[in-house]
Amino acid sequence: MNEANKNILVTNALPYANGPIHIGHMVGYIQADIWVRFQKMQQRNIVYVCASDAHGAPIMLSAEELGVEPDELAEQYTKQHAKDFSDFLIEFDNYYSTHTEENEALVLEIFEQLKQSDCIEKKIIEQAYDKQEKMFLPDRYVRGTCPQCKSGDQYGDSCEKCGATYKPTDLIEPKSVLSGEAPILKESEHYFMKLKKFESFLENWINQIQIHDSVKSKLNEWFQIGLKDWDISRDHPYFGFKIPDEDEKYFYVWLDAPIGYLASLKNLSNKKESGINYEDYFSDNDNCRLVHFIGKDIIYFHALFWPAVLEGAGLKKPDAIFVNGFLTVNGEKMSKSRRTFIKARSYLEHNNPEYLRYYFAYKTNSGIDDFDLDTIDFKNRVNSDIVGKWINIASRCSKFINQHFDNTLGKTIDESLLENFENASDEISELYENREFGQAMRKIMLLADQANQYLDQEKPWVMIKDTKMKEHVLEVCTTAINLFFKLMIMLKPVMPNIAKNGEIFLNVKNLEWQNIHDRLTNHEINDYKPLITRITSESIEAMLDK
Ligand code: MSP
Ligand code: ZN
Repeated sequence: MNEANKNILVTNALPYANGPIHIGHMVGYIQADIWVRFQKMQQRNIVYVCASDAHGAPIMLSAEELGVEPDELAEQYTKQHAKDFSDFLIEFDNYYSTHTEENEALVLEIFEQLKQSDCIEKKIIEQAYDKQEKMFLPDRYVRGTCPQCKSGDQYGDSCEKCGATYKPTDLIEPKSVLSGEAPILKESEHYFMKLKKFESFLENWINQIQIHDSVKSKLNEWFQIGLKDWDISRDHPYFGFKIPDEDEKYFYVWLDAPIGYLASLKNLSNKKESGINYEDYFSDNDNCRLVHFIGKDIIYFHALFWPAVLEGAGLKKPDAIFVNGFLTVNGEKMSKSRRTFIKARSYLEHNNPEYLRYYFAYKTNSGIDDFDLDTIDFKNRVNSDIVGKWINIASRCSKFINQHFDNTLGKTIDESLLENFENASDEISELYENREFGQAMRKIMLLADQANQYLDQEKPWVMIKDTKMKEHVLEVCTTAINLFFKLMIMLKPVMPNIAKNGEIFLNVKNLEWQNIHDRLTNHEINDYKPLITRITSESIEAMLDK
């Protein structure tokens, strides 16, 4: 089947429902949303889902501390996250949760398949245990001195100073984060996914999918080391789905989390009004593509564990894994003490979401390099590109149409510039398709420069004083408004609300990519109202949490 006609299921990593969304998280959601909106403008059949990742030990412990049930806490965060996403104009077709019936049913089905295809094994292992809290400790809940470089206060799985990896009990003077006591080693029986079995399958598979070379080389490093069987169970107390025929055992959160992608699709398809059929978007035939957008810290889970689970269960595997690098703020890792931790909500209270969408688009490419939100550069970039270049075209010439030509565009336009814009649109479309958003934004802004140069040369504000030149002013302004119109279509995936207001101004509706070839002539428009305002230093300062 032709790639362009396939149905596409797009997912974003499911955020943990135990804390607020920050603008670092937003990188991946904004990138995916831009890509999805672009595809929808090309009339592709595409479904875009996400959900809260509700399970795991951290959320159970936070809930305990707050004196609420973990499912209540997850629900509160799910609502909050959904609101943050929608205010950032992330347009999911469904936002669900992993703590749901649909997900549990799918998890049980897949687990059963894995058992039947001999992918699961039980083994007794020893783990760090907190006697006081009566709980096995996740690696991150044990801290102590690194056995290799002797740095103090390191996590139980790896050392932040020297990069060594080890078992929590290898730490010198290990302590439980929960009780402060030294953990003991205790035996317990666990379920393991036989990942080793899938090594050659996975090595082949990564060469068949869309995945960036830098991610591939990371995966190859892991293949070199060899894959270890994967512990998919956790002991009580834990917040998760119970394992059948066991009293006190749960599935590990990372088993049920990616299955949550499918649960969100299932939930959407169960809603009659959605018109979405589950099998059209997830089945092992050639008609559908599965595309995951994730951050670089969760590659192992998505490119090794998840496809192995799908293969073991006889299900369709992902066709693309698009990975984003990490965001820093003013050159630093996001941290509360350094005032570089910006919650999505703090941003939204003081700034327009479309500015950040533009800036992230401008700064990103298809690779996995980290990138920085430099707040001064952010302000300058947005004010210069969006306000100074793009919107400026409309504000410079709309008033002549509004005041002198009865809000009606002329019959003639300057063809050469328009054709130039239309020809560039194929290249820009290609850049969007390949998630080279930074290059796309640069190309679009070069076109905006051309439109402004054209106005600078023609000077309608001078010509309008000469009645003999009135017809020419109309042609110049009509041309410029058409250039603005084409830029608006090209920028619509990134700034959908400004584009929507632009559509009202230009008296057009639901523009799609192909409308780039339209000409607005002899066409009535509406009065121009300012489409956006400049960012100020005050609004930047205000979003940096005190
Ligand atoms: N719950 C898991 C994902 C499960 S997917 C089946 C998780 N959640 S998370 O809340 O920690 O992260 C959500 C997404 O945000 C991940 O893709 C993660 O990589 C991304 N990011 C978290 N901090 C980030 C930055 N500072 N910069 C860019 N992306 C960041 O992981
Ligand atoms: Zn160390």
